[in-house]
Amino acid sequence: MSHILQDITKEEYQKRYDRLKTIQDKLFSNATAPLYNYRKENGFYPVMGEGNISAKIMFVGEAPGLNEAKKGRPFCGAAGKFLDVLLAHLELARKDVYITNIVKDRPPENRDPLPKEIEFYAKLLDKQIEIIKPLCIVTLGRYSMGYLLPKFNLSHELKPISQIHGKKFTSEQFGKTLEIVTLYHPAFALYNGGMRETLLKDSEALLQFLA
Ligand code: URA
Repeated sequence: MSHILQDITKEEYQKRYDRLKTIQDKLFSNATAPLYNYRKENGFYPVMGEGNISAKIMFVGEAPGLNEAKKGRPFCGAAGKFLDVLLAHLELARKDVYITNIVKDRPPENRDPLPKEIEFYAKLLDKQIEIIKPLCIVTLGRYSMGYLLPKFNLSHELKPISQIHGKKFTSEQFGKTLEIVTLYHPAFALYNGGMRETLLKDSEALLQFLA
């Protein structure tokens, strides 16, 4: 699906690639990162994100799990399998989108990220958004939603995810319209079968964008 990629020059692509690489390299060696010691002690990798850096759509999850931290790749475990199902439902593949998280290192035992971790790692997400300039951001779960709606001046829309899952919000970035679609986290579908259908149905909020 080529229309879901931004039409950018080779030079712009290279510039994006280089800037993202610099951020990744810095995080790798930044011992002040809140989860740096835990990462090192366990031989984990930071997970910056992957996919197409000229994608119009960016998916933002919460934080890497064990599989992700072992491989340095986002959503490559059980939740990722369902994310693939969701993408396929929209006739998309991973290479059509960019996938990342707010928190770039795995929190111990998959606990919820702490406010100071979100504060630190979200600055890297901000840079990724600024570099990739997506036209649509899909938030996966309440942490991603809770950070990104306020970031794009949509604090007044913030409600419990049970009330605003599957909704589309409109904001602006760099003078362009930015759509934000709020979905439940794909891991929900693993524990609750009914949630699979809800998530797939909710993801259809993206169809208008894909048309
Ligand atoms: N859950 C997330 O939020 N992100 C991942 O990369 C994997 C699981």
